[in-house]
Amino acid sequence: MGARITSPSMESAPMNRAAALYRSAIFKKAIMAITGMVLFGFVLSHMTGNLKIFQGAEKINHYSEFLREFGQPVLPYKGFLWIMRLGLIGAAVLHIWSAIALTLDNRRARPKNYELRRPVQMDYASRTMRYSGFIVAGYIVYHLLHLTSGQAHPDFVHGDVYSNLIIAFQNPLVAAIYVVVNILLSFHLYHGLWSMFQSLGIDHPAVKGLRRPFAATFAVVICLGFIAIPISIVTGLIQ
Ligand code: HEM
Repeated sequence: MGARITSPSMESAPMNRAAALYRSAIFKKAIMAITGMVLFGFVLSHMTGNLKIFQGAEKINHYSEFLREFGQPVLPYKGFLWIMRLGLIGAAVLHIWSAIALTLDNRRARPKNYELRRPVQMDYASRTMRYSGFIVAGYIVYHLLHLTSGQAHPDFVHGDVYSNLIIAFQNPLVAAIYVVVNILLSFHLYHGLWSMFQSLGIDHPAVKGLRRPFAATFAVVICLGFIAIPISIVTGLIQ
């Protein structure tokens, strides 16, 4: 009597939709974490490679040439570099796509009174990620024109990484831009690493407490390694 008839498919439809949404959020977070790892790997190796400047002109210029010649004769000159570049571009595009998609999903799923309940700390972290992400992306465009193709450099010589760096950072404004952006990048790395641990489910009690110190140490080491170069040049430590 008066019983409502619902088909099993009607009942499970919202469940299916929720499961699909959940799955796709996991997919996007996985993409963000994997591409983040690729970009971390690049940043770490780029930072250590750049430190060769402290060993002198020959070492750093030789390192740059080594990257161009690597893989020859199986690969053409710069072949390896181009494979790396395409991989990096792909990782950066997917990283940005997943960041935008997750932000839009969160916004859509947010209840009306979400602003009242949303922790202030979370707002701060995601805002910092967005702004530092935009700034780092803009910086990379300038950085490529400055130190890779040379259009934004006052006296660029292809292959002479050492003198390109010395001339670039003798300008205090340019040195300051690099220092500020690299500090911002370290905030991005810190929060990104920490949330990557969460996305990958690294929350075993044995390691849970180490996630923040690890992320902070990694970010500080990367930051110091990068900013040591403009600071050493602008202060005349390297000439
Ligand atoms: C003070 C900090 C930095 C210095 C001194 C520096 C220096 C350089 C130099 C000298 C090159 C040209 C290398 C060559 O021609 O062999 C280069 C290329 C590049 N840098 Fe940096 N870099 C810094 C920070 C960064 C950061 C933070 C990123 C990314 C988040 C980055 C991304 C790149 C990329 C994508 C290239 C192009 C590599 C290629 O395709 O040849 N750099 N950098």
